[in-house]
Amino acid sequence: MEKILTRNWGKESSHTLEVYLRDGGYEALRKALREFEPRALIDEIKKSNLRGRGGAGFPMGQKMSFVPRGTGKPVYLCVNADESEPGTFKDRYILERDPHMMIEGALIACYAIGAQQVYVYIRGEFRQQARILDGAIREAYQGGFLGRNILGNGFDLDMYWHTGAGAYICGEETGLLESLEGKKAWPRLRPPFPAVAGLYNFPTLIHNVETLACLPHIVARGGEWFAKLGVEKNGGTKIYGLSGHVREPGLYELPMGIKLRELIYQHGGGIRGGRQLKGVIPGGASCPILRAEEIDVEMDFDALQKIGSMFGTGCPVVMDETTCMVEAAYSVAKFFAHESCGQCTPCREGAEWIRKIMHRILNAQGRPDDVDHMLDLCDNIQGKTICALGDAAAMAARGFLRKFRDEFEFHVRHGRCELS
Ligand SMILES: Cc1cc2nc3c(=O)[nH]c(=O)nc-3n(C[C@H](O)[C@H](O)[C@H](O)COP(=O)(O)O)c2cc1C
Repeated sequence: MEKILTRNWGKESSHTLEVYLRDGGYEALRKALREFEPRALIDEIKKSNLRGRGGAGFPMGQKMSFVPRGTGKPVYLCVNADESEPGTFKDRYILERDPHMMIEGALIACYAIGAQQVYVYIRGEFRQQARILDGAIREAYQGGFLGRNILGNGFDLDMYWHTGAGAYICGEETGLLESLEGKKAWPRLRPPFPAVAGLYNFPTLIHNVETLACLPHIVARGGEWFAKLGVEKNGGTKIYGLSGHVREPGLYELPMGIKLRELIYQHGGGIRGGRQLKGVIPGGASCPILRAEEIDVEMDFDALQKIGSMFGTGCPVVMDETTCMVEAAYSVAKFFAHESCGQCTPCREGAEWIRKIMHRILNAQGRPDDVDHMLDLCDNIQGKTICALGDAAAMAARGFLRKFRDEFEFHVRHGRCELS
């Protein structure tokens, strides 16, 4: 299959403007500025069926059309480069290996919505990527792709980067905005949505790094072409990040909608040590786990939702038969309890309560009603918080409890794992 987002990755100095320009870099921007009115550009993006790669899968073109125009107010684009979802490791490689693809995508998005400034909110730990991005932004200014009167088309744009504050919640779009404004990253109530009232209360489009990197290709080769690379309502290719007990973990650029089985067994080389598959978290820790017999599902937002899970960031974590699912569930529960920002009581108290119960089950102190108690806690968190962190904590825990209930019950009854 033709590589699109990762086409430059193997090349020497792939992060430089020189290499990016060699293969037609910034030509899509030129085309967008010359051939498209902003509204027509948004229509082209709608045709592509591109859905956000940050986890929620909202259609990009539709989100762009929510940004009000001609109000005289500043309009911003925020690039979400926080990449805080456990198991997810794709955006950092785009920034490291081909930052200009994201920069060009951001420029195209800004032209479409009438934004004059871009803020790239990059995870604090990504020091190397921030250094590379900084160099790429400087090169783009020097090359006339950022700054005033870009490519002689009267389009002005400035780009800044800002390091994140080291918490999962900083990747949640409204937590990100608060953090960028210098405040504690407590998510905001919606509506109003950021597209209407975002950064400093002005219209703001927020997109993931990978989502933006798709735009130059949509402009260069057309929305329909992009849509056809994937499946219905899920256009394009995806950088899947495969980790866990596979022979060849790593990043694989493949079409949206490929089978999870194909990703694990054909591309990832199957389960390490010839063992049996036990479960897979399909797209980051927030997504409910699947059992081995469910992996004939297509990797797209709709197919995974239909079977009660989520596509998330498209980065599956694979677990083989030696995995204690109670331990795995505890590790996920611990993450959410630690990362709950504390603003909403159901998430703050509930996530920690689930963690504590899982901890006591693991330590041979489980009680007969613990599983039902945790399921009840999940019902009292999900849908009752300002942001989706609470939903994620509940959905992830419920996934483990429902799919591997027998293992939890074995632990409670015998005070040990059936594998030990
Ligand atoms: C707790 C939490 C953490 C999140 N972390 C990230 C993140 O690190 N990176 C990201 O792109 N989106 C993250 N998101 C999703 C964003 O809120 C938002 O949906 C996304 O940036 C929109 O971009 P997209 O439409 O391109 O996916 C997170 C959401 C939640 C609820």
